Amino acid sequence: MKLAIIGTGYVGLVTGACFAEVGHQVVCVDNDAAKVKLLQDGGMPIYEPGLEELVRKNVGNGRLAFSTSTAEGVQRSDVVFIAVPTPPLSDGAVDLSFIERVARDIAASMTSYKIVVDKSTVPVQTGDKVAETIKRYCKARAEFDVVSNPEFLREGFAVDDLMHPDRVVIGVRSPRPLAAMKEIYAPFNAPLIITDINSAELIKHASNSFLALKISYINAISVICEAAGANVQEVANGMGRDARIGRQFLDASLGFGGSCFPKDLSAFIKIAEQVGYDFGLLKQVQKINEEQMSRFVKKIADTLWVVKDKTIGVLGLAFKQNTDDVRMSPAIELCHRLRKEGAILRVYDPKAAEKARALLGDGVTFVEDMDEVAEGCDALVIATEWEQFKKLDLERARKALTHPILFDGRNLFDPAQMERLGFIYKSIGR
Ligand code: UGA
Repeated sequence: MKLAIIGTGYVGLVTGACFAEVGHQVVCVDNDAAKVKLLQDGGMPIYEPGLEELVRKNVGNGRLAFSTSTAEGVQRSDVVFIAVPTPPLSDGAVDLSFIERVARDIAASMTSYKIVVDKSTVPVQTGDKVAETIKRYCKARAEFDVVSNPEFLREGFAVDDLMHPDRVVIGVRSPRPLAAMKEIYAPFNAPLIITDINSAELIKHASNSFLALKISYINAISVICEAAGANVQEVANGMGRDARIGRQFLDASLGFGGSCFPKDLSAFIKIAEQVGYDFGLLKQVQKINEEQMSRFVKKIADTLWVVKDKTIGVLGLAFKQNTDDVRMSPAIELCHRLRKEGAILRVYDPKAAEKARALLGDGVTFVEDMDEVAEGCDALVIATEWEQFKKLDLERARKALTHPILFDGRNLFDPAQMERLGFIYKSIGR
């Protein structure tokens, strides 16, 4: 089918590339001319495993193109996906101005029947607003249908998540757009969850909030484990073998971050408030997450006694492994807090260093090799769960550190082995 994706960020670009890969004709539109030029020239604005190859292949075979013109995208396509940002406003509500702008632009370019699909994470009832807006601004009075099709990809695993989804949620009001959506997703062989539009929109916020709740739950358990001398990983393994609970998203950490969970939690609390429900449970999820970071910083401060003028090595800057994304990254927050306490930082990340530089500013030393970070440091901290950190040369790190202290915010090592190697090793909930 002929598809346009308006918004070429994480979701838009990966979705466009995967749709092209399964045989659709796709044009990805973005108003950032520099980004479109970069993509047209074979460059990549983000790091995402497998994406570059997919884009190159499908641009090469003519199924994937890039444009700055929404009008061109709309005219060339039967189905138009909206995948623009929905950032938070200062009160936690969602800024829908990009969605509204795109709805108007689509309306202005429509001269024949189109299916307009919302992929961005939006509050329930946004589909109605999009439909009203298109109707109001479409001078040609073209027919259209609005669909909600939320995205569940995880950064770092986005291509795989999109090519092999657990489920595809389609919120529709009538058979015509449903038939088109079924055709688009047929090559993915995924279970289809077909609902009304409001329910589809709610599934997204309810899912992300539940996953965040799972993390805060295990982080709360980690506090009890530390106080009571238990091991949170063993508790998580034991709990996770119950199929009703499941082991995923039960990894205790210094807290969750990223461009989705923190924003979506605030948005869902606000959405609930607007329909008259005080979502206290989710407020607690946020509170536990904030406390988890503070507790980790306190652990470092208590161990070092005085943080001021201590050199601390930080491994990991991305908000999680396999990405160069530093938005709302717990690792960056940790760096800010340590600097506020007067620490001197040596930092490393395999992919996110460049993007982190803009946030951390001057006065932080970026190291090129993970095994060199510990040189002359008073302590080493692991802040992101990059797989490669498990291969850190621990013998070399122990010798390079002024004191062999390692704070592990991601529980990458075995405490008993670290002790044997001569480290003062402090992790989460163990
Ligand atoms: C999340 C959801 O997992 C996706 O399904 C969803 O599509 C996406 O948001 C979105 O709304 O666009 P993402 O933010 O890319 O995906 O990353 P996650 O893998 O969910 O991780 C989020 C944060 O939780 C990271 O900081 C991660 O390190 C942390 N985390 C995750 C833990 O601390 N413990 C865990 O057990 C799992």
